[in-house]
Amino acid sequence: MTDQPKIYVAGHRGMVGSAIVRQLLTKGHAVDRIVTRSHAELDLTDQADVRAFFASVRPDQVYMAAAKVGGIHANNTYPAEFIYSNLMVEANIIDAAFRAGTKKILFLGSSCIYPKLAAQPMSEDALLTGILEATNEPYAIAKIAGIKLCESFNRQYGESHGVDYRSVMPTNLYGPGDNYHPENSHVIPALIRRFHEAKANHAPSVAIWGTGTPRREFLYVDDMAAAALYVMNLPKAIFDQHTQPMLSHINVGSGQDMTIREIAETIARVVGYDGNITFDPSRPDGTPRKLMDSSRLNDLGWQAQVGFEDGLIKAYKDFLKNHPA
Ligand SMILES: NC(=O)c1ccc[n+]([C@@H]2O[C@H](COP(=O)([O-])OP(=O)(O)OC[C@H]3O[C@@H](n4cnc5c(N)ncnc54)[C@H](OP(=O)(O)O)[C@@H]3O)[C@@H](O)[C@H]2O)c1
Repeated sequence: MTDQPKIYVAGHRGMVGSAIVRQLLTKGHAVDRIVTRSHAELDLTDQADVRAFFASVRPDQVYMAAAKVGGIHANNTYPAEFIYSNLMVEANIIDAAFRAGTKKILFLGSSCIYPKLAAQPMSEDALLTGILEATNEPYAIAKIAGIKLCESFNRQYGESHGVDYRSVMPTNLYGPGDNYHPENSHVIPALIRRFHEAKANHAPSVAIWGTGTPRREFLYVDDMAAAALYVMNLPKAIFDQHTQPMLSHINVGSGQDMTIREIAETIARVVGYDGNITFDPSRPDGTPRKLMDSSRLNDLGWQAQVGFEDGLIKAYKDFLKNHPA
């Protein structure tokens, strides 16, 4: 088994990083060929420590799933931390990996790299065509820098050193390991928690902000991890045929969006809440539609496998494991 590449998964305790480790193990990758470090063991914003780590471990491949992430509130309150930490994590990993001879990196960005008013569905070439959403601009700028770091290292060192650094931009994700914090979670974990509590308390209704009509796309996190391995392992000639040196990132989505109402009703069904769901149109709706154009990845031969309701059933099981009655 020692001919398997040595793979460092950065951020392995997070929702996406843990799914990537699960996926590697499922695909038969030996556990002793997977390297991980918790945040406490290795602070990726510390350049000297990151260089020392790479110099001693010398991984063949790196999945970059470590990032400082958060919702609107956190992004608005701590913009300095969001831009600084994410830039440092990316710059440190990519430069240290290059110095240590790592040939392959997969960087994870986010759909927030696209302009606020990008045409829907959002395709890769919408990048840098307009202004970003103000609340997460610092985070998005750092993620765009991550894509450009990968591309710049490829352009300068691709031929001479054989580096091949790629980026994927996931849509909204959900699944095991999600953050269910009452104030600071994304829409799916927040609704799972609210319907679960409403069911336990026999609440007659659950009120949801807005009209329920905006459309959003979601992808089950194990599908995301499968896509990450797929893109990492695509032969270079094929990857190069479908990308350009300065437009190389690849969207990863399910290709299907749903209204907030449909999302809420499906979650209520999965959780077993049979009270009323009401909408409060006096509250803001946000963007009417947010959907990735994943045709680049689909053309490369990858499609999402897990249906929304099936993914929610797994996510709710994981929630119950961590929030026993
Ligand atoms: N979740 C989504 O819906 C979604 C959607 C699109 C893209 N993504 C992308 O996927 C990636 C992972 O997201 P996630 O949802 O898995 O986030 P997550 O659950 O918060 O995981 C991030 C991990 O990175 C670690 N980390 C952060 N800063 C670090 C540092 N300075 N040094 C070492 N470790 C550090 C965190 O450790 P601590 O918790 O100990 O700090 C955590 O384990 C991010 O790049 C994100 O943009 C996520």
